[in-house]
Amino acid sequence: MCGIIGYVGHRPVVPILIEGLNRLEYRGYDSAGVAVVNGSGLEITKAAGRISVLEEMIDFESKNTFGIGHTRWATHGAPNDTNAHPHIDSSEKIAVVHNGIIENYKSLRTFLEQHGVTFKTDTDTEVVAQLIGHFYDGDLERAVRRALREVSGTYGLGVICTEEPGVMVAARKGSPLIIGVGQGEHILASDASAILSHTSQVVYLDDGEIARIEAGNFRLTTLDNVPISKETEEVEWSLEEIERAGYEHFMLKEIMEQPESMRNCLRGRIDLTEGAVHLGGLVDCTRELVRAKRFILTACGTAWHAALVGEYLFEEFVRIPTEVEYASEFRYRNPIVDDGTAVIAVSQSGETADTLAALREAKQRGALVLGVVNTVGSTIARETDAGVYLHVGPEIGVASTKAFTGQVAVLALMACYLGRRKHMSPAAAADYLQALSRIPEQMQETLDKVNVESEKVAERYSQRNNWLYLGRGYNYPVALEGALKLKEISYIHSEGLPAAEMKHGPIALITEGMPVVFIATSGLQYEKIISNMCEVQSRGGSVIAIATEGDHEIAKQADHVIYVPHTIEPLQPLLASIPLQLIAYHAAVIRGCNVDKPRNLAKSVTVE
Ligand code: M6R
Repeated sequence: MCGIIGYVGHRPVVPILIEGLNRLEYRGYDSAGVAVVNGSGLEITKAAGRISVLEEMIDFESKNTFGIGHTRWATHGAPNDTNAHPHIDSSEKIAVVHNGIIENYKSLRTFLEQHGVTFKTDTDTEVVAQLIGHFYDGDLERAVRRALREVSGTYGLGVICTEEPGVMVAARKGSPLIIGVGQGEHILASDASAILSHTSQVVYLDDGEIARIEAGNFRLTTLDNVPISKETEEVEWSLEEIERAGYEHFMLKEIMEQPESMRNCLRGRIDLTEGAVHLGGLVDCTRELVRAKRFILTACGTAWHAALVGEYLFEEFVRIPTEVEYASEFRYRNPIVDDGTAVIAVSQSGETADTLAALREAKQRGALVLGVVNTVGSTIARETDAGVYLHVGPEIGVASTKAFTGQVAVLALMACYLGRRKHMSPAAAADYLQALSRIPEQMQETLDKVNVESEKVAERYSQRNNWLYLGRGYNYPVALEGALKLKEISYIHSEGLPAAEMKHGPIALITEGMPVVFIATSGLQYEKIISNMCEVQSRGGSVIAIATEGDHEIAKQADHVIYVPHTIEPLQPLLASIPLQLIAYHAAVIRGCNVDKPRNLAKSVTVE
């Protein structure tokens, strides 16, 4: 999972590549590099570290108008200067940027070494550059095509050659690539964020496609050179939406814009008078969904936590057995899937390799496959039979926030949509939808009230190295999500658990002053969670409770209480997750961590 950018046109290329890399940096930030073609050959600037390091080194005055760039999340080879992309072949004519993994790179490397090639890096990508160089006979596109026949694995590739200035070849298998279509110029990128300041007209490459891109035109073909014709599409996200809007971090911006993103997510989908939900993306498969014998929700990370809320919602309101599977496990355990199973892939990016692989596996086994995806036009969105977009706008911060609440909201809508066609009465649906439609304004109330309290909790406990997050029922996934948020951006060890599980082992961890966050909003298991809080307090742990407004009693069992507005139990994750996002955010800031680009992580995990 890396970011790729390429430009061919009439403007100086360096500022365009650097701007694009800055927008793609969330995809990986171990090292970055750029290759431009000048009159005498390839000019390569690359370095370990952030794009800012590259910016210090690069010649912004360069008049060259053709080049490629890359920001890396290391898979093969340490994140150092040498292993930074672009990589070149031995003749130093061909430069390659790559996102993905070349699985057979070792055997290809041996083959090339036997043909006299000396490798300079430890990367799998250099093998591609050398292989293209090996086959190059004056036609770059042909050499790429020939090389890719030998390659197994995944790739989004941008390739240039000094002998063919103004010709960029791109190829895709498993890693996203988009061509931005401008006036006398084309931009190649891993996603639309790097293109939008230049054009909103794009063409999405699909797996198995190769593009030959020049300033004034481009040509798409299959690996076997069969021509493909594709319409240009308009990207709906604006540049403004993918900028920080005055916030110090994308994560904070995205937390704060949840009332708005939730409004956008729900807009036009709820009919309060009829007690009905409208989901255009499901219309064609509604009959099949209602008849399904089983649902499997599959996802990774935060999306998996949202899917877990989805499981509870589906089983409560649709009454069809529902399971949640880590996408990375699903594919490899010979799952039982048939045409009575509907598999729903939940993913913000729509590009997560494990989730994509799981859905392909399910499809191959005959399941109906759906997507709950944020990024329009992403691979998962395009490969599913049907689905529902989140419409929460671009999420740039590596820690997922508004996408989580968007995913939960969409799954809540789907539960009602299907529930109404099964067992849910119009009156029950109307109450449920009434509560759902109030969520955006309640999110605003929550944000207005809990930010200061959340910061205080973060200040008080940010130096503690172990935290527990506990919840029951619908709040169990919220506990998992709270713990993930804290660990991924502040590097504090935190664990999320069903509260009742604590006494089966983790209670041994409780020491004097250890922060234990309870999601203890009103509901069926409220009394039980209060007992769990007592158990922690009596062992010296510090209890931080997320509670429902008006619950003053809870303060007796808690060292800190953060109140969120009252809503029905199934929708509580939408509000209760907000203070947990804020606690994680403030803890990371206090600890001096890079909130938007936490170490070792990347926004979109496009490798398995
Ligand atoms: O784009 P996806 O929703 O498929 O991404 C899944 C996970 O990689 C993602 O949620 C990850 O866990 C986030 N860093 C969590 O904040």
